[in-house]
Amino acid sequence: MEIREVAVVGLGTMGAGIAEVFARAGMGVVAIEADPRAMAHGLGVLDASLSRAVSRGRLTAPEQAEIRARVRPAAGFGDAAAVDLAIEVVPERMEIKRQIFAELDRVCSPDAILATNTSSLSVTAIAAATRHPDRVVGMHFFNPAPVMRLVEVVTTVLTASHPPAAVADLARRIGKEPVQVGDRAGFVANALLLPYLNHALRLLETGYASRADIELAATAGIGLPMGPLALADLIGLDTVLAIMEVLRDEFGGTRYTPAPLLRRLTAAGSTGRKAGRGIYDYPDPDDVLQTQDGNAAGSPSPDTVTLIGSGDDVEASLATALATAGINVTRNAAHPSDLVLIAASGVQRVLPAVMATGRPKDAVGLHLPNGLTEGSVAEVVATGFSSRHAAQTAAALTTRLGLRAVRSPDRTGFLVGTLLYPHLADAVRMVQDGYASPADVDTAMKLGCGYPSGPFEMLDHVGAGTVLAGLQIMFLSQGDPAFAPPLLLAEHATAALGFAGAPPAGAGLPADRGWAEPAR
Ligand code: 3HC
Repeated sequence: MEIREVAVVGLGTMGAGIAEVFARAGMGVVAIEADPRAMAHGLGVLDASLSRAVSRGRLTAPEQAEIRARVRPAAGFGDAAAVDLAIEVVPERMEIKRQIFAELDRVCSPDAILATNTSSLSVTAIAAATRHPDRVVGMHFFNPAPVMRLVEVVTTVLTASHPPAAVADLARRIGKEPVQVGDRAGFVANALLLPYLNHALRLLETGYASRADIELAATAGIGLPMGPLALADLIGLDTVLAIMEVLRDEFGGTRYTPAPLLRRLTAAGSTGRKAGRGIYDYPDPDDVLQTQDGNAAGSPSPDTVTLIGSGDDVEASLATALATAGINVTRNAAHPSDLVLIAASGVQRVLPAVMATGRPKDAVGLHLPNGLTEGSVAEVVATGFSSRHAAQTAAALTTRLGLRAVRSPDRTGFLVGTLLYPHLADAVRMVQDGYASPADVDTAMKLGCGYPSGPFEMLDHVGAGTVLAGLQIMFLSQGDPAFAPPLLLAEHATAALGFAGAPPAGAGLPADRGWAEPAR
């Protein structure tokens, strides 16, 4: 059976995007919304998105009209009687979802597939509210739905074999890439993305780093398409909070504890882009993703720098770069200079080296997570003793070297490693749990969240040994169990083995785990 007619229940941001995707693929869409104002708003979102596509030359005006005509606002659930698939896209509240599924189960034909776009709730619990749980699947889209290519197809122990295959086929027809996953909190992408966003919120809230520095560390430092704070606003802080609560209930521990800031902003109604206010204010919707970086404008670059390092390649290339930029370099802290620069390794704090210079006010660390390539991030590490002037001079120096300054406190991992290493550890833990393969994780994060490289590709690039060492020292020095390295990472580091082509998920575990089978 080919799916031709669908119903979309709930026309919020995601529902409107999903309706658009189906209609653009030539399918008839019945749009169901309990609240007439929400229906009008959802159709407005759809119209705005189609008009934007016309203005960018991606659609003609007649095509826009045809697509729009395929979306029919419904008077009620009864209008879904003849659809081949109904997808629920309402807020993450189990009671509402179960009610909707009971209703769909009643009105839809027995052959219809019922899908939920839940981002983290148990699809099994939703299915159990119906008389035919074998036809219930998760069909999880990513925001913005018209752009992101991933669809997670979630099966439960109750799902029959036909619906997941039909939904995966449908996903391909609408230009998406399906990844089949079992029913576990957050599935693949949200279980990895959301703790990373939550961690970034905690870093902001505790004053570890500024908003602009966190965003720049993620974009220029890690290479992600958006900073985590802007992305949390895009998803909606209430949604981020709801998903974190589900993850915390399922997995526990500090990594999954929602940041208090998330609760406060959600309670205040400042839920992000959709509310016009969240981590950022959104006076101008065209300007929403802009963020200023932490580079010091107007500070003088130094003429003479005292460079202190451990005699490694990083120090040598930094010395060459300084000399090439016309800066005098001395290695003796007793000699006069405008700045004392500690070439930081990324694993150790800079404070011991700073104190050893005898000039703590003039000294800052400089860490180059991606080397000296033009436009790369340089972490400027000020200690509690560094003067403001020294930190600003170091930032000006990085600009002169063609780098982008990110201010980091003197904590192991600095800022880029603090964001990245626990995120990579979460991905390793997911594979260690036998839930997904490295290839599936990489596909999910690239197609669902726009990562240029998947977590395992990043891990292989950075090196399992480096990430392990970073996590170990973060765990030892900060004592947060969220940084405890997973055993599988330690094994790969010991064996000097990358994750590309690693054994499939669950290899080495008993093969007869019937409860883990996704479909029957
Ligand atoms: N709706 C429709 N189309 C949109 C859009 C929106 N809200 N935002 C951007 N687009 C389109 C633009 O029109 C443009 O299309 P065009 O090439 O045809 O003109 C294209 O996307 C690129 O947009 P921009 O040039 O304006 O901006 P960027 O190149 O910076 O890309 C982005 C924007 C696609 C959002 C990119 O920053 C990105 O990939 N960010 C990561 C998003 C992400 O991680 N999403 C997943 C969140 S988790 C989730 O949704 C799961 C849920 O359960 C919580």
